[in-house]
Amino acid sequence: MTKAAPERAGHRVAGAFSQFFCAAEARVDRWRDLNRVAKALQGAGDPRALRQGAIDALAELAPLEEFNAYPGPHLMAQIHDRLQAGDATGLARLVATVSGALMAGSYRDDARAWSADEEDDGALPDILPPSLGRGPSRRPYFEMLIVAAGDRATWPSLRDTFRRLRREEDAFVYEPVVVGSFEDAVLAALFNFNLQSVLVVEGLAYDSQSSSAALRELLAVHVPQGVTSGRVDLGVPLCRVLRQLRPELDLFLVTDHDIAALAGADDAGGVRRVFYGVEEPMEIHLSVLDGIKDRYETPYFDNLKNYAARPIGTFHALPVARGKSIFKSNWIRDMGEFYGVNLFLAESSATTGGLDSLLEPTGNIKLAQDKAARAFGGDRSFFVTNGTSTSNKIIHQALLRPGDIVLIDRDCHKSHHYGIVLAGAQPLYIDAFPLTQYSMYGSLAIRPIKEALLALKAEGKLDRAKMLVLTNCTFDGHVANVERTMQECLAIKPDLIFLWDEAWFGYARFSPFLRGRTAMGAAAKLRVMMRDPAYRERYAKFKAEHGEIDPKNRKLLDTCLLPDPDQVRIRVYESDSVHKSMSALRQGSIIVVADQDFGRVEAAFKEAFFTHTSTSPNLQIIASLDLARRQMELEGYELVQRAIQLAVEIRREINGHPLISKYFRAATPGEMIPNEYRRSGFADYGETGRTLGDTVEALREDEFFLDPTRITLLCGHAGYDGSQFKSLLATDYDIQINKTSRNSVLVQININNTKSDMAHLVKALADLSRAIEKRLAEGGESERSAFAARVKSLVEDVPDLPNFSRFHDAFRDDAKSATAEGDMRAAYYLAYDPANCEYLKLHDPAIDARVAKGPALVSAKFVIPYPPGFPILVPGQVITRETIAFMRKLDVKEIHGFNAARGFELLKPEALAAKRGAGGRR
Ligand SMILES: Cc1ncc(COP(=O)(O)O)c(C=O)c1O
Repeated sequence: MTKAAPERAGHRVAGAFSQFFCAAEARVDRWRDLNRVAKALQGAGDPRALRQGAIDALAELAPLEEFNAYPGPHLMAQIHDRLQAGDATGLARLVATVSGALMAGSYRDDARAWSADEEDDGALPDILPPSLGRGPSRRPYFEMLIVAAGDRATWPSLRDTFRRLRREEDAFVYEPVVVGSFEDAVLAALFNFNLQSVLVVEGLAYDSQSSSAALRELLAVHVPQGVTSGRVDLGVPLCRVLRQLRPELDLFLVTDHDIAALAGADDAGGVRRVFYGVEEPMEIHLSVLDGIKDRYETPYFDNLKNYAARPIGTFHALPVARGKSIFKSNWIRDMGEFYGVNLFLAESSATTGGLDSLLEPTGNIKLAQDKAARAFGGDRSFFVTNGTSTSNKIIHQALLRPGDIVLIDRDCHKSHHYGIVLAGAQPLYIDAFPLTQYSMYGSLAIRPIKEALLALKAEGKLDRAKMLVLTNCTFDGHVANVERTMQECLAIKPDLIFLWDEAWFGYARFSPFLRGRTAMGAAAKLRVMMRDPAYRERYAKFKAEHGEIDPKNRKLLDTCLLPDPDQVRIRVYESDSVHKSMSALRQGSIIVVADQDFGRVEAAFKEAFFTHTSTSPNLQIIASLDLARRQMELEGYELVQRAIQLAVEIRREINGHPLISKYFRAATPGEMIPNEYRRSGFADYGETGRTLGDTVEALREDEFFLDPTRITLLCGHAGYDGSQFKSLLATDYDIQINKTSRNSVLVQININNTKSDMAHLVKALADLSRAIEKRLAEGGESERSAFAARVKSLVEDVPDLPNFSRFHDAFRDDAKSATAEGDMRAAYYLAYDPANCEYLKLHDPAIDARVAKGPALVSAKFVIPYPPGFPILVPGQVITRETIAFMRKLDVKEIHGFNAARGFELLKPEALAAKRGAGGRR
């Protein structure tokens, strides 16, 4: 590896890397730079300065190129030679080819990208093309990392050994990449998203050959301290670090001593296969391909394709199956033409003929679910074909019984509240911190959850508290400190079940930065922690200092609580709208489970699954869940890092643009998360003066982190309210936005977005900003003061967000209890009898009189303004002055459960009195 100009290269790269969540994008950025310089070298300008620029850019790239097969040593040597020889045209052409191929990813399919000679057809004798052809003959391309001991001079022949093993019948094609040390292997895993397999040969060195400060910063962030201490052989610790970084990689270990002990060792568990010496290259080659096949195979989709290809006569329901009624139709033939024949060939209402049953999976759906559990890091998974709305209801019904208490953020998606009604459990609502200035809630902090649990303990009700329900991340991107939340709650209630609604956050599993903040990532960490002898010692000290958990001890609220490792049960459920952040069809959702007591609830879970699942689940949705899993296991790392990087760049473009930022702003973590939840002081991504290490520290320690891909775009200063701005973007710019608030819209970036999308949005904002400037400049004083008044009303005159008030005493087991749970189901069903209900209009003065003097106004319904979509009122809740004030200021058109013409639907005081008199909870 070259050590050319490390200081210079290191210095420049260091600043820039801290701006990058995606190391591979930093590399592509540098190729773009080199392309610009090489182009300029062809024309006028100062050739000496430009030449120096090209030399510097190449020096920066050189260490990074060691980690990638493309462009590889052959093309890199050609680039150096052309630069040396002053062949500006040849240099520019080759750099443009490489840079273009890297940006488009075309080197994976197009042999010409590997050729230095522009006339060449790509069939070079010394470098085999990566993949052959397009269409059905195409073979997916990937790269295998070989971490080799020994002299660098042997690497070319090592590469050739594996290239020579390629066979016509191989389903995939790979290029080997060789590095020689622990550190370089870690860097390669970070920089090279084509890597799918790693072959670690024992005897490797530790230190990277590069002394770049930027690369050292990355290593400091990603290699845990002490991971190699006490080790002579570095193979197993390296595998452990790689597994943390990219759990999807297939790891192979080659050793020449004590193979049996190594293969059986605990920490070799993540290694796919151990080999004795490199003397079996064909075995290694086949194992590598087998590992890819394991991830590539989509058991359900593959069977569905087979099914579609068979000449099947159908004598069951579903006339669209096989499509004959469509393709022969006089009137709806266009349906067939639009959707294509395969959709109909792949439709069936049977669960035979290679198709499994979602309700009782024993075949390929079961296999597909097992693979999804592996990909998402759980013990088991369940496909759900009608959205996370249904996943949530299944989990509530499976785990809760009537009368159980469930602690829940009131700002959770409505499916949870309805799920609780169905289960007959009693919600104990806890409020998230408000972001009044943006008319939205943040997320639920740990302290109020602990307060609620301690209050339940004080009242002797902890045994009824079964589950905590939280959203992670929230619609607006608040990511919880999942591990700490669970750790502290388990210290008070060791068998509490956690339901993390990760409807928006499934993709985070595939980011090494965000994984630790997912339900499954945190559950895995807690499992390891509870088994760790060092943790036992920590716990013993904690217990000696604080004693048993005493609910009256207020100090516990400010203490980071530790659970008893002998008592604790790790029981974690995650629901995830795969369709929201990955490539599943709409409504494709998944439940992922890491519950060590699942055996105790399995039967109930099955019943709940039966309750909510259609007996005619959509086959295409099931297949798409299988495919989304395949994609994420094979290219999730690349896609997710790119999406995160793009989001960070969009934020920077908006907030750094002199004109746009006068009227619009991408709210930063510093603005979206109050200081008290950001102890690290982290306030924005890639802030000047802060390192990547600082970001990682914030991710590890802060109570909340803001998901960069969820951009709250503040539009109040441009004089637009959220709904107005949303329709303006849709009608004038063909830009679709999801959620709005009084003065913001939510821009979501996902794996589907590109830099062109970024350009489209930024251009729209620039056009709008220019139009505002013009209007204000030409409109005179009246225009300017009207604009200022509109901005003030949107930005300053924001309504307070009403907290959950209380359940009416009629729905409380014990009206004097200090804990706030209530029997919502009883209120819900009381309203089924119209005789129990009355109506009062929002602006009727009688409302104010009743609020002031009583009798209490009690909601009969869920009232859910959409957006934002959380219930302002739930059945049985007492309506307060704050609720009324909020509703009167609310400017959204769609309020579920509220008919403006009739007003609030209320439970009559007589009905409430009768309910109280009747007693009984349910
Ligand atoms: C937090 C949360 N959970 C669950 C859901 C429901 O998911 P689905 O649309 O997949 O039914 C949503 C929908 O927006 C949501 O925001």
